[in-house]
Amino acid sequence: MSKSSPPPGTSDILPAETPTWNLLENTAKKIFSLYGYKELRTPIFEYTEVFQRGLGDETEVVKKEMYTFEDRGGRSLTLRPEGTAGVMRSLSGTDALNGVEHRVFYIGPMFRGERPAAGRRRQFHQVGVENAGKVSPELDAECIAMLLHYLEEIGITGTTLYLNTRGVASDRPAAEQALRDYFAPHLERMCADCKERFERNIWRILDCKQETCRSIIEHAPDPAEFFSEESKLYFKKVCDALSAMGISYVVDPRLVRGLDYYVHTVFELVHPGLGGQTAIAGGGRYELRLPGSGKPIQGVGYAAGMERLLMVREALGIAPVPEECPKVFLVSMGEKALAFNIALAAKLRKAGIATGMELEAKSLKSQMRSADRLKAAWTVVVGESELESGKAMLKNMADSSQKEVALDAEAIAGEIG
Ligand code: HAM
Repeated sequence: MSKSSPPPGTSDILPAETPTWNLLENTAKKIFSLYGYKELRTPIFEYTEVFQRGLGDETEVVKKEMYTFEDRGGRSLTLRPEGTAGVMRSLSGTDALNGVEHRVFYIGPMFRGERPAAGRRRQFHQVGVENAGKVSPELDAECIAMLLHYLEEIGITGTTLYLNTRGVASDRPAAEQALRDYFAPHLERMCADCKERFERNIWRILDCKQETCRSIIEHAPDPAEFFSEESKLYFKKVCDALSAMGISYVVDPRLVRGLDYYVHTVFELVHPGLGGQTAIAGGGRYELRLPGSGKPIQGVGYAAGMERLLMVREALGIAPVPEECPKVFLVSMGEKALAFNIALAAKLRKAGIATGMELEAKSLKSQMRSADRLKAAWTVVVGESELESGKAMLKNMADSSQKEVALDAEAIAGEIG
């Protein structure tokens, strides 16, 4: 363990990187608000039950990946592994439970104790949206369209949208029976996890990434064939609404998603630029049960992994957003000039001009080096004669051209602002 490294699977987001993060966040705020979504900030930890009940006890996330701890009052708390359950916990106190539509989005860190790899972090960040209260296939399609709109706006193209239906609770027994009948004779050759999934949650088998299991899964029946006509129609309407918007998709009958709350529509977006961890975003319609609430809360939403969005941008050759640089750097020749420049810098900053300077008397060479290092666009050298004449030369650092300017904030701001 190096003293300067954070724990495995976490990392600092450095000043050189934050401008690109800000772009992802600000663009999310801009695009989501076009669709009427408002930001909701929930706590980073919740009562453990919120996730246990919300995501399902049998999910990998709940069984193996949560950061759960007891606080000093003996309460079991968990660092949020995803955003949906906390958002629904918050909305369960509203009329969303009675079918009134709520549109919210969130941005922030999530925590899962997974084995770290490229694109798989223990602290990662999601931008996500949830539409709670209403059930409508057109809403599901609009939600997907909004995700694609967001990705386009941050420069991400070339994704493939995988789509499937999970049906509703009453559709499941017949589909599960069909899966059981199909997998039972093959179980001997399948991995230990699949053997367990067969007993506890057979749908999860469809998700297995093991080579031998995949070759068996490939020929499994499509569970959707066993769903009610109503559920099939719901899915058809989602597909039709997407097609009407010109959005192409691939129906993948094996797509079940890792969380148990999904009903009807599920989807994932993948990008070849990601290698092994291909999903940049995932989501779907859900019915979430929360502790202390009799009724389930209905919704549709998704989350995109911000680290993965950044990886895809890089794979696509999109340059990071450059760091903010000073517009002007004030160089002080002597103590009097230093005092003058400190006051001048304060006025320039209040006028909205990013201003850099050394706060101690240094040589001209060393101050010009600082201006270079900070990539200042302009410099102004202030010494005895400039203070006397009230004029100075404004130097453009890109082409070394100079122009005379009155030595006051308004005049400088007027020239470069
Ligand atoms: P999820 O598929 O578990 O869904 O996560 C969504 C996205 O978060 C993934 O597609 C991926 O980009 C990113 N992600 C997940 N785990 C990691 C990790 N360990 N490291 C880096 N990125 C990761 C959900 O979280 C659902 N709450 C989405 C949702 C919202 N469904 C309905 N509403």
